[in-house]
Amino acid sequence: MEPKLLLSQLATDTLQGLSSNPKYLLSKYFYDDEGSRIFQDIMNMPEYYLTDCEHEIFSLQTEEITKAICPENKLFNMVELGSGDGLKTRILLKYLVEKAINFQYTPIDISAKANHELVQSLKTELPALQVEAKTGDYFQKLKNLNGHASIQKIILFLGSNIGNFSDEETTKFLNQLSAYSNVGDKVLIGFDLKKSPAIIMDAYNDPHGHTRRFNLNHLVRLNRELDADFNLQKFEQQTTYNPQSGEVKSFLISNGEQTVQIGALEKEFVFEKWEAVFMERSRKYDFQTIDKLALNHGFKVVQNFTDSRNYFVDSLWEKIT
Ligand code: AVI
Repeated sequence: MEPKLLLSQLATDTLQGLSSNPKYLLSKYFYDDEGSRIFQDIMNMPEYYLTDCEHEIFSLQTEEITKAICPENKLFNMVELGSGDGLKTRILLKYLVEKAINFQYTPIDISAKANHELVQSLKTELPALQVEAKTGDYFQKLKNLNGHASIQKIILFLGSNIGNFSDEETTKFLNQLSAYSNVGDKVLIGFDLKKSPAIIMDAYNDPHGHTRRFNLNHLVRLNRELDADFNLQKFEQQTTYNPQSGEVKSFLISNGEQTVQIGALEKEFVFEKWEAVFMERSRKYDFQTIDKLALNHGFKVVQNFTDSRNYFVDSLWEKIT
């Protein structure tokens, strides 16, 4: 009998994805150090409108957002899932602190480094802010917070991160969000809206090649961490947009028949000429779908904050059942 390999989660997921038909890789593995740097390049491109839109919403509607999230000025806990560098949230935090609003801020992120940097910079920038970062799985941490059920929670999930989920992942995420919220708690979720396909394609099929590098970096990661021998020259990156489903899909396409060895899996994978590997989904929404998502998970939409071009919405929901 062959000895069993002890596989990391990355190795297990890669084995599953490349053994499937059609092949896929999981986009959550884009974000190693280099991938996070490339994502910053993407966010800085003029074509990637999402960041500017959400920044505009937080900058120009700070007062309205504040009124909607804390109408009675009772103590609340603002919990942010996947806070990262907290760039947009900072605008809201600054306003809440200036208005002496009674709240605490709990950023939750998988990266201890990102949390540490966020807390350090907030301590300098907003010394009066009560902040306690949590590192780890969103829902494990949310579950622990539910011990303090008397304090209302406002849970933020910004940046269209929900758009990267499959339908099943979205359902699972919202079910968990619902399970760890109490009636009266609120959530603010960033959704990218359906718009002219030309604008969407410019953002995801960018002329600078950052999106291509972002995808290829996944293979670089597999070469380094799983001892694979992907040749980057042998893959083309392609993005598609389906205006009915609202799904942007990114693929890496093998430009010739080839075999790739993955040392850590002790396996080789054959790629046919023009065979595509599904890399990432970035879903675009309409308001009807957002309403339905809220109602199906025990929430109602309280207010939608859109940017001036109606490209993006931060949708505020309240837990009703
Ligand atoms: C992180 N996420 C919301 C980005 C998006 O727009 O789906 C990731 C991204 N992929 C390509 N460009 C940006």
